[in-house]
This record gives sequence, C-alpha cells and structure tokens, in this order.
Amino acid sequence: MAATTKKTATKGTKKMAKSVIKKAASKAATKVATKKGAATKKTSTSSKKDVVAIEPVLLQCVKGMRDILPGEQSYWQQARKVLEYEAEEYGFGRIDVPVIEYENTFTQPIGKSTEMIEREVYAFKTRGRENVLLRPDFTPSIARAYLQHSMNMFTQPIKLFSTGRSYRYDRPAEGRYREFHQANYDIYGEEDPVLDAQVIQIAYRVLQKLGIKNVQFQVNSIGTQESRAQYKDLLTSYFLSKKNKLPSKYRDIIEKDPMRIFDSKDEKVMQVCVGAPQAIDHLDKESRDHFKNLLEYLDELDLPYMINPTLNRGMDYYTRTVFEVYAIDEKGLRHALGGGGRYDDLIENLGGEPTPAIGFGFGIDRLVLEMKRLKTKSYKPPQPKVYLAQLGDLAKKKSLKIFAEIENAGILVAESFGRGNLMEQMEQAQKIGVEVTLIIGQKEALDGTAIVKNMHTGTQETVTQESVINAVKSAMKKHVVVKKVNKRDGKKDDKKARKSQKK
Ligand code: HAM
Repeated sequence: MAATTKKTATKGTKKMAKSVIKKAASKAATKVATKKGAATKKTSTSSKKDVVAIEPVLLQCVKGMRDILPGEQSYWQQARKVLEYEAEEYGFGRIDVPVIEYENTFTQPIGKSTEMIEREVYAFKTRGRENVLLRPDFTPSIARAYLQHSMNMFTQPIKLFSTGRSYRYDRPAEGRYREFHQANYDIYGEEDPVLDAQVIQIAYRVLQKLGIKNVQFQVNSIGTQESRAQYKDLLTSYFLSKKNKLPSKYRDIIEKDPMRIFDSKDEKVMQVCVGAPQAIDHLDKESRDHFKNLLEYLDELDLPYMINPTLNRGMDYYTRTVFEVYAIDEKGLRHALGGGGRYDDLIENLGGEPTPAIGFGFGIDRLVLEMKRLKTKSYKPPQPKVYLAQLGDLAKKKSLKIFAEIENAGILVAESFGRGNLMEQMEQAQKIGVEVTLIIGQKEALDGTAIVKNMHTGTQETVTQESVINAVKSAMKKHVVVKKVNKRDGKKDDKKARKSQKK
C-alpha cells in the first residue's frame, strides 16, 4: 500500500515538474515574443503570426547532457581527489588541452571507418570556416600537444595526466552520455611492457581507493600495424565465408573493418565470432614477447585479469597491448569503467619521430555511478570551525571584512550572508557543528564589537572587532582543553574545567 502511494506520488511529482517546465517555457517564450514584438512595432508593423513562430525556451539540458547538482558533488570530489593523487604518486604532470580541436587531428588516428568518426563526433565549421570538433577522446589531443610543444626534447618517458569533458553523439543510457568526463594517464617515449603493467596497476589502485573492490581487467594484444593488417585479411576471409549467418548490417562492415564485428552484442554474431581467428595467434615475434612479459608482470602484481582474445578497443591508433577494466556487480554483471592500451605509431602517424606510448582513460561518470551503487564513502570536505552570524545591513558589511580576516588566519569559517534571521543562522551553526560562533548584530556593528560564543560550553563574551581573531583562537583552544580534561579525568573534572572557563 505504502509502495503504491509512493509510486503515485513520484508520478504526480514528475507530472507536476513537467507541467512547471512547460508553463515556464511558454511563459519565457511569450516574454521573448512580447519583447521582440515590442521592438519591431517601432520599426515595422509585425503581424501576430511572426510572434507565434518564436521557439519556446526549453528549460532542459540538451539530450545526453546533464547537470551535476551539489548533492552529487561529494562523489565527484572524492573521485577527482583519488585520480589526481595517484597521478602525483606515479610522477604524472598535469596537462590541460582545449575542448575544441581540428577535425583531422582525430579523423586519421581514430580511423575514418570507425563508429566514432562516422557517427559520434560533434563536428562543425567555425565562422572562420575551420573544420573542428568537440573532442570525443583525449588521446589524439595529448599527442597533438606532445608534438606542438616538442616534448620529445624533454627527458623520456614523459608522463601526462589529463582530465575533462568529452563529447560523443552516442545513444544515451545509464552511464552513457553525450557529454561525459574522463581522466587519462599517458606515458610517452618508452616501450618496455613494465609501463603497460604500471598503468594497469594505477587503474587498480584508483579503484581500490574509491572502494570499487570487485574488478576485472581484460587484456589482449592486437600486434603492430603490419601484423594487424595481415590478421585483418584473415578475419575478412573468415567473416566473408560466414556472411550468410550474419545479419545484413554486419555484412557491410566486413570489408571496412572486420574487427568491429567483435564488438557486437547480437547473439547470432557472437556465435560466428567464436570460430574466428584470434589476434594473439597471429602476432609478430616482438609483440608476442611484449605481451608475454606484460602477463608476467601482471601475475607478479597479482592483478585480477583475464585474456580476452577479441578485445580490440575500436580505435585505429592502438597497437599491441589493449585492455579494459570492469566492475563486477553482485549479479556478476560487468560495468566498463575504463580502458586503454599502446599507441606506438600515433606520434609518427601525426608527423613526429617514432615514439612509443601507452595510456588509459577512466570514465569519471561511470566511477561515480559505481561508487553510488556500492554506497562507498563519499568525500568529506573539511569542517568549518567557526560560524559568522550577522543581523542588519551594517553588520553584514562589517562581517564581510571579518570573514576574510578569519580565513586569512587559516581558520575555516562558514557564513550565511543570504539569511537575515539570527535564529536560523544559529540553527545552521549548530547543524554544521562549529566550535565557535561569532555574532555581529546591529548593536555590535555600531559599537565595533562582536560576540564570541563557545558552542560546546555555551559561554559567550563580547570582544572588540580588532581582537576577534585572538578571541576565536582562544575559544577554540578552550575547547581542546575541555576535551583533554574530559578524557583523562572524567566527568567531575570536566565540570571543573567548564567552571574555570566561565571565570
Ligand atoms: P574509451 O574506452 O573510448 O577510451 O573511453 C574511456 C572511458 O570513458 C570508457 O571506459 C568509459 O568509462 C568512458 N566513456 C566512454 N564513452 C562514454 C560515454 N558516452 N558516456 C560516459 N562515459 C563514457 C578512450 O577514450 C581512450 N582515449 C583512453 C586512452 C587514454 N587510451 C590511451 N590513453
């Protein structure tokens, strides 16, 4: 019964919210229309028809995009904190790159016939007729920056950490957005498989620290560009021989990129894929040794991995190692959180010297989803020790200055300048759990004084505004003394301590 009522209530609330949005939208549209109408009236005799044609303002995010509200931010802060901490620990330098890049920086590296370039990029012409896009991914941007700033001149390997938004015109679903957030760890200038193992280890550490414990890495090697070209020929012949068993849309992909067929979730296609030749059986000797060494490192690190012989990551820039990391839920379902691999030819293909590289990216939206699902601990921001309450215009003015002074003294302070009601502010101070509340009312503002209230003992004293910082500090110290006495000597002495404070 209760559940039904809740459901009805939720439905009702949603309906109400929708109607509010609609009303607000049509109100806004009428406003725009009236404004425009008024403006045109002076110059011409605009008809009513023109006014109706104005599009209503949709008070909604664009499809696939979303707002991240304050209530969710603690998870984001926690994720960002851990991601940045690990980057520092492993010696990565942060790099920020623009959201808009030239289209051809991405087209060739990712691959013209890939799903992403064909269907998912937000590409457009600027007013200056440049062909640009909203980055769908960071890897080509970072490679562009590496070349643009001649990073090959720096000591190698060079480790770069990047984080920010990416855009893909994907079909929106839970965990799949058109605007999403990534964090990437990339290492340039070294081909030793120990670095492949190290980036996998970083991914593992981030997940453990975020409380995402049940994870699985899937790894594969897709060889060099040359060995992959030979392997693709084999694969094409195989899929062509099974053409009749594949749904028609897959038949067109065979000649374009047979490896894309492996990404299908279609039962029939998956059955055909079972008998297909596998990349690791057709590796060149160097790639095979490289992969074997990587697996030895992973064993040494005792990381939870399995070999997935059909994993290919769908972007042309990858060579040799590719991997993905999943969270496994209580039903055994996998949730992709991140992925990466080697891209040893990317710099050369963009016009630079041969430069091996390895990296991976996490989807931060997905990390947050997983943290919420697991109800992991979210980030606890530092607690303010002091609350500044004020009443009246003059008090507010004085409080602004005092607030800055307290912060400059290194004391975390909270306020609520938007509230006029002293009672509400005191309740707020209590809720936050501060040690000291400073009160500046109308009288204090005129006198140049402030009331310092010790929130633990309830005692208060009036001090001059010039001595506020010292008074706050000593009130905070008194609190520490009370705590110590409390611990060592029990309740009786605690009373004594309070008495002596009152004196
Ligand atoms: P990716 O697998 O395309 O790799 O993306 C990395 C992660 O971004 C995914 O595992 C997923 O968590 C997240 N992600 C991707 N698309 C979406 C989406 N539509 N909505 C929400 N999250 C999404 C790369 O982008 C490579 N550049 C990673 C890399 C860095 N490789 C080497 N260095």
